[in-house]
Amino acid sequence: MLQRISSLKEYQTTYKNSIEQSENFWSEVADNFLWKKKWEKVFSGGFEKADYKWFEGGKLNITENCIDRHLEKFGNKTAILWEPNNPTEQNRKISYNELHEAVCQFSNALEKLGIKKGDTVCIYMPMIPELAIAMLSCARIGSIHSIVFGGFSAQSIADRIQDAECKWMITADGCYRGDKPLYLKKIVDEALEKCPSIQKSIVLNRSNFDCNMKADRDVWWSDIMKDCSTKHEAATMDSEDPLFILYTSGSTGKPKGVLHTTAGYMVYSTYTFLNVFQYQPEQIYWCTADIGWVTGHSYIVYGPLLNGATTLMYEGIPQFPDWGRWWEVIDKYKVNIFYTAPTAIRSLEAQGLKFLEGKSLESLRVLGTVGEPINEEAWEWYHKNIGKEKCPIVDTWWQTETGGILISSLAGVTPVKPSFATLPFLGVEPLIVDANGKEIKEIIAEGNLCIRKSWPGQARTVYKDHERFIQTYFTTYPGMYFTGDGCKRDYDGNYRITGRVDDVINVSGHRIGTAEVENAINEHLDVYESAVVGFPHFIKGQGIFAFVSCEPQPKDIILFKQEVLNIVAKIIGPFAKPDRIEIVSGLPKTRSGKIMRRILRKIAEGEFDKVGDVTTLLNPEVVEEIKKKVKG
Ligand code: WT7
Repeated sequence: MLQRISSLKEYQTTYKNSIEQSENFWSEVADNFLWKKKWEKVFSGGFEKADYKWFEGGKLNITENCIDRHLEKFGNKTAILWEPNNPTEQNRKISYNELHEAVCQFSNALEKLGIKKGDTVCIYMPMIPELAIAMLSCARIGSIHSIVFGGFSAQSIADRIQDAECKWMITADGCYRGDKPLYLKKIVDEALEKCPSIQKSIVLNRSNFDCNMKADRDVWWSDIMKDCSTKHEAATMDSEDPLFILYTSGSTGKPKGVLHTTAGYMVYSTYTFLNVFQYQPEQIYWCTADIGWVTGHSYIVYGPLLNGATTLMYEGIPQFPDWGRWWEVIDKYKVNIFYTAPTAIRSLEAQGLKFLEGKSLESLRVLGTVGEPINEEAWEWYHKNIGKEKCPIVDTWWQTETGGILISSLAGVTPVKPSFATLPFLGVEPLIVDANGKEIKEIIAEGNLCIRKSWPGQARTVYKDHERFIQTYFTTYPGMYFTGDGCKRDYDGNYRITGRVDDVINVSGHRIGTAEVENAINEHLDVYESAVVGFPHFIKGQGIFAFVSCEPQPKDIILFKQEVLNIVAKIIGPFAKPDRIEIVSGLPKTRSGKIMRRILRKIAEGEFDKVGDVTTLLNPEVVEEIKKKVKG
């Protein structure tokens, strides 16, 4: 049985052991899984070349651990509860037995199409059980899934398909988000025009939307499933075989294909799910994220299923048909553990309490947040009105690259402190460094957050670009993993994550590279150049502020701004549209021509007096002009 940490004391002693006897510790955790062959070496390698490996020599299949091994004891237990966008549509309950049959059948279908171990498969689907079935089937046959979030544009899908060299696509006709139809197949069709590498595109009929099925390329999900057996022998994978690629934004314009491997990710997502949420058998667990982000990968699909939990998937949005929907869903399924993002909490808070009337929420035991710093006010609101002051809140800090939660309290076991992610998870050794890369050893500290040693869930590389992986994470501070986040540590050793210190902004928990948005804006013919920075936003945490200089000057400013928004939506996706656009005569630059984003950041934040010395700039005069524009 996996060790469940159940007291602060036990956390402290286990933590100490997990750091001092790291390999022993993780090997004991890993003993609780189904291995086709046990590993030979718990850990090897290091950060210098980023060649660390976990459980080397082991053979396994993650889906046998997610599904098969539960069947004997509780095959009839519900694995996935599905709540549709429209509350009048029939919901679904899928037992572990049924999930097993569906995954086996779809795995056979994928193999029949010719998909092989090591092939990359792009998935672009709504939040329906078939999305989980698709990803698990990929894992079962040893192919690598690359899921693209449903909010991304055709261009973004095409970029990701090309980068990962995907030969296969899995999608659906479309879905409704609230009362708005989303024509996924049409978006994919547009993307695939630029992707000749795609051999077959599998289309699930979710909504009976008209689909233009391209002969030789497009096949219906239901057609390929026909005649496929519901038994399938899972492929034997090495511990370090790739499991999935997930694209995420960084400081440059090109998103990185973060690669996770099989055994380490499995062990880490299982163990964090159990201990952070203190999951108990029979509890109903709901994470509101989209499976297209890492939170959905690790804590809607893999982590919960690996623990044999019942995981709820909701297809819709929080405000449909009204802002009381989530509370209705919690009561309907008697949800015990609820995991969401600060942006959602702030949006719900802004609606007042009327949508909570008549909702009991008494099934809730544990609340969680993830994705961005949570402000104290939102924390208090969540604690009081949703948790009724009796549910611990776990503020979980982690990243696409970390695979699972690295800093968080353990629900009801270790102390909480509003707006602090608190203490490191077992086996995780955070440290704070100053701008020069020197570790700050004082207990009370502020600086950049790094991690000293590898943990099993850590990403192994950037797909096909290991050099970039090393450059991004392991060279800023040699010998450590650099997270890109700033943080503070209090007297008790609690960590508070203060936000990104690089050119990444976090809008409603969506990670966006400022360079990506700039590149998109620069596609407008009238734009000479642009600079994008984040600014504090009441609901979204951070908003996007775009400064653009134009040549020629746009005649119709309102029209111009609309065109800029459209371009960003088309190139990246609607969620990356700037909240504010200012046309300026020039951007502040150093004498060597570098745009001074620091100055723009201060102005966007409204800290006009804190822009610092501008006299050494190439064009100091623009700073006053920009200030005036933004103030006005
Ligand atoms: C960035 C990673 C990990 C799942 C979702 C986001 C920010 C994440 C917290 C938190 C403060 C947080 C960080 C991090 N972040 N969780 N609890 N408190 N900030 O994954 O898209 O890879 O983004 O999200 O800035 O670096 P991601």
